[in-house]
Parts: sequence; C-alpha cells; structure tokens
Amino acid sequence: MTAPEEKIGAPILAGVIGWPISHSLSPLIHTVWAARAGIDGYYIPIAAPPSYDDFARTVESLRTVGFAGINVTLPHKEHALQYADEATQTAKRVGAANMLTFSDGGTLADNSDVAGFSLALHQAVETIDTSGAALILGAGGAARAIALSVREAGFSNIEICNRTQQKAQDIADAFDLTTVPWEKRNDWLSHAALVVNTTSLGMTGQPPLQLDESKFASGAVVVDIVYSPLETPLLSAARRRGCTIVDGLSMLMHQAKPGFAEWFGAPGYVDSDLRRVLISALERQARQ
Ligand code: ATR
Repeated sequence: MTAPEEKIGAPILAGVIGWPISHSLSPLIHTVWAARAGIDGYYIPIAAPPSYDDFARTVESLRTVGFAGINVTLPHKEHALQYADEATQTAKRVGAANMLTFSDGGTLADNSDVAGFSLALHQAVETIDTSGAALILGAGGAARAIALSVREAGFSNIEICNRTQQKAQDIADAFDLTTVPWEKRNDWLSHAALVVNTTSLGMTGQPPLQLDESKFASGAVVVDIVYSPLETPLLSAARRRGCTIVDGLSMLMHQAKPGFAEWFGAPGYVDSDLRRVLISALERQARQ
C-alpha cells in the first residue's frame, strides 16, 4: 500500500490499450501535449490479447499501479464498457467505450469518438447544412460512434451502407437510420451533403473505396477516418470535385482531447504543429 505522501510529485500515468498497439499514434499525441504543458506524466502503449479476461487482468494491474485512466482501442472497446462500474450515456448509446477513468469510486467508461468526429467536422466547416442527407459507408467498430455523432449534429436523414447488409441494419435499428445496398452506394451520393467512410478501404495495402466521383454533390463534406495514407483515393476524388475534405488524423487528434483533459488536467491543442509531428511519425512507420 502506498503512503499518501509517496504519491506527491509522482508522474501522472495514462495509456492506450489494444491488440496490436505498436502503431498507435495516441502516445505521441499525449506526449506532445504533456511536454507543451510542462506536465510530469507518461502515456504508454499497452498490449492486451483479444480476450475479455486478458483485457480485464491488464486493466486491473494498471489501476493497481496508479494509472489515472486509459484509452481503449481495437478489439477492446466493447470489453471496456463491460468492465466499467459506470458508463456515460454516450458510451451506453454507442455500446462501446474508448476511455476508462479510474477513481476510488470505481471505473467510468466514456466514448470520445463521438465528440472527436463532431469536433473534426466543425473544425473543417463552421456550420454544416443538415437539411441534406448524410451517407455513412461501413458498419464496423467506428460506424456506431459516427452514426451517433452525425445524428447529434442535427441530420435527420442518415443513410448507412455496408458490404454486409445485416451489420448496417443493426446500426440503422439502433440509431433510426436508413440502409442502402452496397452495390447502390453511387446512387445515393448525389444528394449526400455529408459522406463518411468508416470502412478500411483506401488504407495502405487495401483496395480503394470505389465511388463514382462525378456523383459527389457540389458543396458536400467528405470525411475519411483512414489516416494512412493521409489523403486516401476517396479524399483525392472529393478534392478534385471541390468538396470540403476531412482526413482521419483530424478525428484521431480530437478524440484524444477528453482523455488528456481528464487525466493530465490540461487542454490538448489540435493544431498544425501536432499534425506535422504525427505526419512525420506516419512517414517513419511507412518506411519500416
Ligand atoms: P469490424 O467489422 O470487425 O468491427 P472494422 O475494421 O471496424 O471491423 O470494420 C471494417 C469495415 O470495413 C466494415 O464495414 C467492413 O465491411 P463488412 O462489414 O462487410 O466486413 C468494411 N470492409 C472491409 N473490407 C471491405 C471490402 N473489401 N469491401 C467492402 N467493405 C469492406
């Protein structure tokens, strides 16, 4: 048992847990923010194998050694919600958590992907026209948080389109969306004011997301959550059509802010300096 006085001046500990975890950029984001704010703290990548038991055991030991909290990434976001004593409404609605905060009272689960998406969108466009439709492509891990975020942004007409139709239907049922068959996705592009790719298509080593770029609506906002490469074929096509584009680094940086504020007690700034540091890290990873 640590005597209270031994904790005085101890560095703040936080981290990110996932499997695999070595490519995560979150440690770099928090380390840059901590250094800028002059905070004595560490944010560590932690690998926990895919089972719930391995996850829970690892989280228990992090609590015991005095971690303030952790971010949670694939494949543990649902495990995080299951593990926590309490959860925010947002995490409950998404059905997954990417933040666990430890206190004497227990563990609180939250989901900052919802706010991360919304902040990234608002940084790119001050006010988005929510009278048009929003088209979400993909129905994997990220799509639920984005569906909630798009709903909260004020869109009433939200369509979801996924190769495996049943997964799109499950999210549609949870958030009152309409499903679009995967083969018909181009037909829906022309009336979409917001297009979001949540699939892994376009990522380095994956095929591109095939869309007919001539069908992009003028003035549409096109978001890709893939950040490697930073400008995916989808974003290049949208740029050629004069759309506003939002890349995956933007959401990644913004979703980190609530955890940093909660555990390190200071604001994290999303700006061009941080973006430059992350792009250099991505370039290093690509060379490895
Ligand atoms: P998971 O579904 O296990 O949570 P994910 O990485 O979060 O995995 O999501 C991957 C997303 O990319 C899914 O929407 C997936 O479509 P399916 O649900 O049909 O698998 C989509 N995806 C991946 N490869 C794809 C491909 N070649 N064509 C179309 N969609 C693809």
